[in-house]
Amino acid sequence: MEYLYLLSALLFVFGIKRLASVKTCRQGNRLSQAGMFVAVVATLMTVGNLSWVVVIIAILIGGGIGAYIAKKTPTTEMPEMVAALNGFGGFASALVALAALVLVAGAMSENATLADGGLVNAISTPVTILIGIVTLTGSVIAYLKLSGKNIVHPVKGDARHYLHAALGLAIVGCSLLMVLTSSTGLMATAAILLVLVAAVLGVLLVMPIGGADMPVVVSLLNSYSGVAGAAAGFVVDKPVLIVVGALVGTSGLILTQIMCKAMNRSLGNVLLGGIGDDSVAEDARDYQSIKQSGPEEIAMLLDGAGSVIFVPGYGLAVAQAQHVVRELADLLSAKGTEVRYAIHPVAGRMPGHMNVLLAESDVPYDQLWEMERINGDFKNTDVVIIVGANDVVNPAAREDTGPIAGMPILDVDHAQTVVVIKRSLSPGYAGIKNPLFELDNTLMVFMDAKAALEEMVKEVKDL
Ligand code: TAP
Repeated sequence: MEYLYLLSALLFVFGIKRLASVKTCRQGNRLSQAGMFVAVVATLMTVGNLSWVVVIIAILIGGGIGAYIAKKTPTTEMPEMVAALNGFGGFASALVALAALVLVAGAMSENATLADGGLVNAISTPVTILIGIVTLTGSVIAYLKLSGKNIVHPVKGDARHYLHAALGLAIVGCSLLMVLTSSTGLMATAAILLVLVAAVLGVLLVMPIGGADMPVVVSLLNSYSGVAGAAAGFVVDKPVLIVVGALVGTSGLILTQIMCKAMNRSLGNVLLGGIGDDSVAEDARDYQSIKQSGPEEIAMLLDGAGSVIFVPGYGLAVAQAQHVVRELADLLSAKGTEVRYAIHPVAGRMPGHMNVLLAESDVPYDQLWEMERINGDFKNTDVVIIVGANDVVNPAAREDTGPIAGMPILDVDHAQTVVVIKRSLSPGYAGIKNPLFELDNTLMVFMDAKAALEEMVKEVKDL
């Protein structure tokens, strides 16, 4: 059986390695699925008095709900879905630890305590319950905030920190009581209190963070769900769970760091609330010299261009314009134009958002260029078409101060002509003005991205 667990762990390790590249990520997913299948089979084979009917019914119900949600959720709502799944992951780990606690308590001899079972068990049980429940309730708040609900922390200023510290102390107290008491009644009370206090802490920790920063929080909660899983692995003595939990925990943390770095923010700044809900600058829509254009003019421009770069952003996801952008790109390629897509690491609202969307429309991988690789080429590019991107092309990031100061951006303004497709002069996620819109070489097309690109396709075909 240990060999099966080893095989499963190896499949997870290679699976996650393959997820790192767009070309190999589907294979990575399949390897990880195979790893999970092997782990489930190995676990079922080790559990003796199991009702197979119950297991199969549970798998069918859980699998059915998962498949339904995955099919139904549009890509723009992926962050909410990931938030919910993290919460379930944390909750599952907490349930495992609570179930193990019930079994251990039932089998304990008189005057024995949980701590008598060894240090690993004494630490991992409360840690699993704590992190699992914090992940669950924190994810619920993240989910609600991502769905646009305005949830604010009830306590302001320093009192908030004192409240969180008091809850932290209560958690330590409950955990110590739970592992040191020999009374099963007290142990159960301590475990219930631990669950309740952890639930409140999870809610309060996520409440003050701006709704727009939720993707970073979701990534962090993903990491927590991994840590809870690894801790649950110690509780039930399952090395494969420890390996998988550690992989999720560390990869979630690395991803959180990458996101913070790409936004030029520190994790502390995100967790304590930086740019977010209330940062829309008053002059964010106040532009003096805007040059407006339309699909017909842009089609003519594209017809004469030797090189074109498409820059997708969050608006591409909102408009679901990934198929039509590919159609336009293919038309231009067929005419001999060099066509590429410039991918900013935090374009959209979740890591890899643009890659996922463009993979959906089967854009050739060699046309997808990452920021560092393509930035030097904008100066030799005839036309850049920005499809619903804003912050990731905002030259204000080159200033010394401001909400996005220092954030790496795509140097689109170096191109011959820049076309920006968006519906209005509304700001993007950072809520600030974009000086790109006022530059001499910028043309604004105020339309929904899909509608604008569809008209451009029609015009290019008619030329
Ligand atoms: P944003 O700066 O958010 O700008 C998106 C633009 O799309 C908006 O200005 C909006 O303008 C336009 N838009 C919306 N719907 C549209 C539609 N149907 N058709 C055409 N345009 C539409 O997006 P970005 O440039 O992709 O930057 C991402 C931002 O999110 C960055 O600030 C980043 O730091 C932040 N962020 C990203 C992540 C990850 S991991 N990707 C995580 C957290 C935060 P109109 O309303 O005028 O159309």
